[in-house]
Amino acid sequence: MSPPLDDALQSPADRTPLDAVDVSDPQLYQDDTWYRYFARLRGEDPVHYVRDSRYGPYWAVTKYKDIMQVEVNHQVYSSSSELGGIQIEDQPKDMERPSFIRMDPPKHDDQRKVVSPVVAPANLANMEGVIRERTIRVLEGLPRGETFDWVDRVSVELTTMMLATLFDYPWEDRRQLTYWSDVAICNVNSPESPVHSEEERFAELTKMAQALGALLNERAAQPPKFDLLSMLAHGEATQGMPIREFMGTLALLIVGGNDTTRNTMSGSIMALNEFPGEYQKLRDNPSLIPGMVSEVIRYVTPVLHMRRTAKEDTELGGKTIKQGDKVVIWYVSGNRDPEAIEDPDRLIIDRARPRQHLSFGFGIHRCVGNRLAELQLRILWEELLPRYPVIEVMGPAKRLYSNFIHGIRALPVRIPAVGRGKST
Ligand code: HEM
Repeated sequence: MSPPLDDALQSPADRTPLDAVDVSDPQLYQDDTWYRYFARLRGEDPVHYVRDSRYGPYWAVTKYKDIMQVEVNHQVYSSSSELGGIQIEDQPKDMERPSFIRMDPPKHDDQRKVVSPVVAPANLANMEGVIRERTIRVLEGLPRGETFDWVDRVSVELTTMMLATLFDYPWEDRRQLTYWSDVAICNVNSPESPVHSEEERFAELTKMAQALGALLNERAAQPPKFDLLSMLAHGEATQGMPIREFMGTLALLIVGGNDTTRNTMSGSIMALNEFPGEYQKLRDNPSLIPGMVSEVIRYVTPVLHMRRTAKEDTELGGKTIKQGDKVVIWYVSGNRDPEAIEDPDRLIIDRARPRQHLSFGFGIHRCVGNRLAELQLRILWEELLPRYPVIEVMGPAKRLYSNFIHGIRALPVRIPAVGRGKST
């Protein structure tokens, strides 16, 4: 929740000298105290050079228009894992796990084409029925009148089911996919993480590659089907990948198809509770659901940043970026830039152009799964509103210690007991 201005003026963000502002600290996102730091950077130094951080020096790009300039100029701003990839933190040497999000053209384009059909409009239309039926089942199983964790009971459950479908993975083992997703994105320095060193992470992701590799081999021997493993097995650009590239590709698809949507499902409950007037507007007019979904995706900003590396000297927002510099585009800040989005700290579910946000990125790497994520969220809310018009948030969310994924680990909620479920 954005702090009131009076409190904000007293905040450490305002007392920190600009030179010492470093928005890469994962604690800012776990404590939810990032707002004023970015407001200051946007106002005082929108393309800001951080000389010293635990990830080395980097440029913090914080305004919508500058982020777009980086996104559309992939010739200069590379995503290649050979130069450092897409996160502020480099993957350790000899443990790099390339995937097409960490590649430049032409290899990026060739591999992206292999998997995109899974989220083509015709396939989404095919999947709609099954997503709806599962959503209903999960919602009907929720308790009334008692506090439960929305993240585990709804967000993780629904997105895990989706992953199992996308990979055609054995249904009863589907939570393994969630575990590997958590392993792939966690910060190994957090005590709550499932692994605590890069070596341990690599070992777990190797197990993932072995399990899914066995399935991939089975699919290669069968005629092509509409699941991601079959597509990777039969795609010319993805056949016979080296092991680390296979690990990276699986991690990309698992995290992409799971974590981000999961956190938006949880974030949508939080955001609508934070703005009860908007929640009521939605109950009164459910046709606002698609716009609300896009607005929540902006408001939550499930991926905090992407990183690029400059392949040549260039200019950005009046600053000279040198070849080899690390350039970090902070979607979480661009989505709150008042020059691009009116009244950006408010959730407004009937905005004029709700899809004009940065949460899915832009340019050649723009999120492949964006329409699938929107579909899952739309169905969730279409089925939620008539059943449970009120979901009460009962306490603070537990957030993820990460500067990359804007994660919600737990969210206590309650559905009022029967008879009190209708809104007033
Ligand atoms: C609310 C949900 C989601 C958000 C916020 C999100 C966000 C993003 C972002 C920020 C990028 C990088 C864009 C850039 O560099 O310009 C991305 C790329 C990607 N996303 Fe998503 N994503 C979501 C859901 C999904 C889903 C459901 C899938 C899979 C079915 C998916 C698969 C991918 C893939 C494969 C890429 C790499 C694209 C490329 O490099 O060409 N995402 N996503």
